[in-house]
Amino acid sequence: MIIAIYPGSFDPVTNGHLDIIHRSSRLFDKVIVSVGRQVSKVPLFSASERVEMLQAVTADLPNVEVESFDGLLAHYVREREANVVVRGLRAISDFDYEFQLALAIKKLDENIETLFMMTNSEYSFLSSSIVKEIASYGGCVQGLVPPYVAEKLRYRYQKNN
Ligand code: COA
Repeated sequence: MIIAIYPGSFDPVTNGHLDIIHRSSRLFDKVIVSVGRQVSKVPLFSASERVEMLQAVTADLPNVEVESFDGLLAHYVREREANVVVRGLRAISDFDYEFQLALAIKKLDENIETLFMMTNSEYSFLSSSIVKEIASYGGCVQGLVPPYVAEKLRYRYQKNN
């Protein structure tokens, strides 16, 4: 059984992430989408809110689970008895960081393989930060995030303003 971990901050999940999740779910027996709790970014949504949004938008995928994790990714992957880490690559600018992350994981546990999936070109410009910036000024995020997430963003920024 091949278990893949798709880690990230997912603050919030975008259609770009969702594309990677759908494609991974067709390749692996089980995909665990894992929300990093202590990523060095100040999140808009709490870890439990991010998990809840991911669960809502992946409810149609029976082999996808969502949870959050603390600490080192390599330790968590081992704990979950997974073999593969999936990361999306959007542009050449992602490569340096991803290369570093993959090598660090390998150094910590040589049994873990990091696999990269090219992000659908439609979403290659997309990031959670861009989505938040658009939403914070009341811009339309339709087509960038699932409608469920768009609603959560609208509500959060309405409350914050
Ligand atoms: N579509 C849209 N956006 C995408 C994307 C895609 N397919 N792939 C990546 N992105 C964006 C994300 O939205 C995110 O945007 P943001 O910066 O605006 O938030 C950005 O690319 C990269 O973020 P993400 O892929 O979520 O990675 P991250 O660096 O925030 O977190 C973790 C990655 C969770 C793996 C990492 O920080 C972690 O685990 N930390 C724990 C400590 C650790 O183990 N460190 C490594 C040493 S081995």
